[in-house]
Amino acid sequence: GSAPPELQEKTLVLVKPDAVQRRLVGNVIQRFERRGFKLVAMKLLQADQGLLDKHYQQLRQKPFYPALLAYMTSGPLVAMVWEGYNVVRSTRAMVGDTDSAAAAAGTIRGDFSMHVSRNVVHASDSVETAQREIGFWFQRDELVAWESGDRDYTY
Ligand code: TYD
Repeated sequence: GSAPPELQEKTLVLVKPDAVQRRLVGNVIQRFERRGFKLVAMKLLQADQGLLDKHYQQLRQKPFYPALLAYMTSGPLVAMVWEGYNVVRSTRAMVGDTDSAAAAAGTIRGDFSMHVSRNVVHASDSVETAQREIGFWFQRDELVAWESGDRDYTY
C-alpha cells in the first residue's frame, strides 16, 4: 500500500480459545474496526505446542506455563494482524491489564475476563515484539496490503 509509514505499524492480536468458545470474536473485531484500524491478516487455527513455545518463549520457565499451554491449545483461536497509527500502544490500552481485576471497565479484559488464566486476548507489547510474533503466526504472503481510502487519514 502507499499509506505513509507511520500508518503501517502492525500488531498481532490473538482471540484466545475461551473467547472463541464464548462467541466473542465479533465483539473483539468490532472494537478494532470502530477505532479505525485496518485488518490486514486473519485466520482461525488450532495452535500447537511448537508455535506457542516460540510465541511465549519468555514464559517457558514460569510455573504457570503448562496451564497456559493447555489453555491455549484447548480449542481454536483467531489470529489477526491490525495496522494503523500507534496500533501497538492503542491495542494494549484497548486490551487492558494482564491482571483481570485491575483491567479497566471498557477494555476487552475489563469487560470479559475474570482471571489472568482466561484473559480472552493477546496483544503484542512493542513494535519489535509485534514484528517477531507476526512472523510466528503468519506467512509473509498472508498479509494483505490494501487501500482503505479516507479511513487511513482520520487521525
Ligand atoms: P504476560 O506477557 O505477562 O501478559 P500479557 O498477555 O498481558 O502481555 O503473560 C502472557 C500470558 O500468560 C497472559 O496473558 C496469561 C498468562 N499468565 C498466566 O496464566 N498467569 C500469570 O500469572 C501471568 C503473569 C500470565
